[in-house]
Amino acid sequence: MDSLASKLTTLTEQAFSALGLPVEHARVAVSGQAESAQFQCNGAMPSAKAAKKNPRQIAEEVIAKLQELDSEGVFASLSVGGPGFINMVVKPSFAEAYLRDLLADAGQGVPVLSSGETVMLDYGGPNVAKAMHVGHLRSSIIGDALRRMMLATGYKAIGDVHLGDWGTPMGQIISELELRHPDWVYFDARFSGAYPKDSPVSMADLEEIYPLASKACKEDEARADKARQATADLQNGRAGYRALWHHFVYVSVTGMKKNFDALGVHFDLWKGEGSVHELIAPMVEKLKAQGLAREDDGALVIDVAFEGDKKEMPPLILYKRDGAVMYGTTDLATLVDRMQENKPSKIIYVVDQRQGLHFEQVFRAARKGGIVPESAELTHAGFGTMNGPDGKPFKTRAGGVMKLEDLIAMGVEKARERLKEAKLAEDMSAAEKEDIAHTVAIAAIKFADLQNNRVADYVFDLDRMTAFEGKTGPYLLYQAVRINSLLKKAAEQGFTPGETFVLPETDISLALILGELPDQIALALKNYTPHVLCDYAFKLAQAFSSFYGSCHILSEPDEALRGSRLALCALTARHLRVILSLLGIAIPERM
Ligand code: ARG
Repeated sequence: MDSLASKLTTLTEQAFSALGLPVEHARVAVSGQAESAQFQCNGAMPSAKAAKKNPRQIAEEVIAKLQELDSEGVFASLSVGGPGFINMVVKPSFAEAYLRDLLADAGQGVPVLSSGETVMLDYGGPNVAKAMHVGHLRSSIIGDALRRMMLATGYKAIGDVHLGDWGTPMGQIISELELRHPDWVYFDARFSGAYPKDSPVSMADLEEIYPLASKACKEDEARADKARQATADLQNGRAGYRALWHHFVYVSVTGMKKNFDALGVHFDLWKGEGSVHELIAPMVEKLKAQGLAREDDGALVIDVAFEGDKKEMPPLILYKRDGAVMYGTTDLATLVDRMQENKPSKIIYVVDQRQGLHFEQVFRAARKGGIVPESAELTHAGFGTMNGPDGKPFKTRAGGVMKLEDLIAMGVEKARERLKEAKLAEDMSAAEKEDIAHTVAIAAIKFADLQNNRVADYVFDLDRMTAFEGKTGPYLLYQAVRINSLLKKAAEQGFTPGETFVLPETDISLALILGELPDQIALALKNYTPHVLCDYAFKLAQAFSSFYGSCHILSEPDEALRGSRLALCALTARHLRVILSLLGIAIPERM
């Protein structure tokens, strides 16, 4: 399904091509000046130079051609503005026919952008044995929204959680446990039987042990050496360590899944840094054979700097002096794995933008080593920090890392208050109320995150994001639920939405906004910026509000107009449902 503007682009392209003007300049967009025009094409200006004509004159010629070509009566008016803008106003009949098609569209207005290209999204990225923090929250929310958008538009999108499960923290915890429990069978190097099935440590134990172990290693060089040795031994396959590590991963993932379920975030793959260990040695051998890997002070590295680099580009470390692999090594081997297993045409990393240098190094190494061909896109879709009111990364009141589950619990608590204030969900059972408070909280948290430009930092403001007024998730839920109950009420009175539209002056602006959906989805995906869809959802909800405030709907005596208005309501509700589901936000049945 095309947008209204792209239907007009098609017409304008015909005019440009008939006049011998470059068709790539024929693009029509929704006008920024709604008072003077609904749509505009700015292509006369860039075409003017080559044509050696004044842009206004070109605009006049395009308009004459459009009028000549316009046998179906699309345009109500065409005019030249400013230096050569082509201003367009369409006839209501054109918008009416468009909305009829949109209503009947099997894809509900979601454009088809790919015919099944495989794309991989790397998001979430929580670390084993550590609590998930707000950075992982951002990654999960944005990554999952992008996955949903790509799936809906025809891509074969695969989300991978890429667990942090193979670095120094693992060795720190293992060595800590070895110091505490030297008698455990996991530490008996001669043991060759089967290790216990159940984990000797819980998630709570791990959360307690890791910070202590990490601190001890920082303070004591000998202690740190032990941890480094344990990391290398784990990676080299020491059986007892591997067995223990499997327990860590299992208990951590069990906890993570609870959090991700509460958020409604899905992953297709639960791989991690450790999953690709077997691929590392052959990858490094190949890099050596290609003459790309070199020794550097006992470590093995690959140079990734180019001549003319503006910033410093240190080599990527493949093996440290002690033989352990690094974050970059596992990311590079993960690319080997992905290209072998999934053959994606794009891989998008939704990771904190402060890891930009790391990804630049990994991408360059992957290109140099021929691991990823130029034809496959590698993108680091970085994001900014979620800050507290003090402008620093969001923390608990005590100054610790805010755990995801605590943050969700805070959101639910606040949502309960908000529902009470707004006198919503009053007639419901306690269980249903709890359900709705949860849905409202998740909508608030997700929307507050997604509505910011990905790269921007933002301040976590629970009061603001849970409000039922303003640009918030709860506001959009409320609007969607309100339209649905209006439609229910109409049905009770025997009124149903029509299948055709009648668009008087009062109804046209909502209709035109409804016609933007396909473009807005495409735009949000172009640079992996879900905030574009958030802006659009809010604009649509506001346009609906003013339409609702100024038009009779159920009380409209004219049957055709009443049917059309109910269809506008139904289409608005459907759009909100589509958009919110692309963003990963659920709408309650009622509220
Ligand atoms: N575990 C990492 C962290 O907590 C994020 C992983 C991101 N993905 C990747 N392929 N490196 O910072």
